Amino acid sequence: MVAAAEAPPAAASALADRIGSPLQAHPPDRGLYLWLAADGLSLCQATGPAMCMRAEFVGGVQGYRSARQRHQREAIVRACGITREHCPWVVDATAGLGRDAFVLATAGAHVSLLERSPVVHALLLDGLERAAAAGAGERTARMHPYAVDALDWLSGAADRPCPAVVYLDPMYAGRRRGAAGKELALLQALLPGTTDESALLARARAAATERVVVKRHRHAAPLADQPPDYHLPGRSTRFDVYRTRKA
Ligand SMILES: C[S@@+](CC[C@H](N)C(=O)[O-])C[C@H]1O[C@@H](n2cnc3c(N)ncnc32)[C@H](O)[C@@H]1O
Repeated sequence: MVAAAEAPPAAASALADRIGSPLQAHPPDRGLYLWLAADGLSLCQATGPAMCMRAEFVGGVQGYRSARQRHQREAIVRACGITREHCPWVVDATAGLGRDAFVLATAGAHVSLLERSPVVHALLLDGLERAAAAGAGERTARMHPYAVDALDWLSGAADRPCPAVVYLDPMYAGRRRGAAGKELALLQALLPGTTDESALLARARAAATERVVVKRHRHAAPLADQPPDYHLPGRSTRFDVYRTRKA
């Protein structure tokens, strides 16, 4: 459901139509809802500890991360093969709130962001709009969001130019702590079921001309038990790299 306050009524009803939810003026007493306010769109929970999350690129932890300008050294950038001389087209096939994609776009890559949940896609669009208005437009212009299931998109990759890199960060239980863990729990409550990880990896490997990169918890088994060619460790995560060499 969508609750809106101080937001233009036309924008609120367009959003409610887009995600197929009823619109009301006040937050509900229970459950999850989208809260559209003058300063942006959030996903909130009314039951249990009150909590809201939204796509944030230039404020909060993400803003701090990108402000430090250390993107070339970030493991995700190296895992995707982005260098000063080489900026491949990356398809982030499990876009979520676009944080990883923003790091890649900050490093100079054009990133297509595929997200199958219309609610998460709406949060992503809102975050990109606010980030562009806050001065990050040069980076967000390299981020191209699509509301689509990656399994379908990757199956149709033969009919269009193939991406150099497909990046995957499928969700799984019990992997993040602190604020990120709470946000993940909120997303898990929102999102129906899991995706077919074997099919996702197989289609990504068939589509990518250079490599597929999979984000995992640093102690987790490889996605679909498929060993990567190599991996790069992050702080609490690791990036498994599958070379495809089809270019
Ligand atoms: C852990 S989140 C990704 C977080 C993201 N890497 C970030 O930095 O914000 C996983 C996301 O993948 C999406 N997803 C899962 N399976 C998908 C599929 N087959 N196609 C598109 N999106 C998918 C989920 O809806 C969820 O939003």
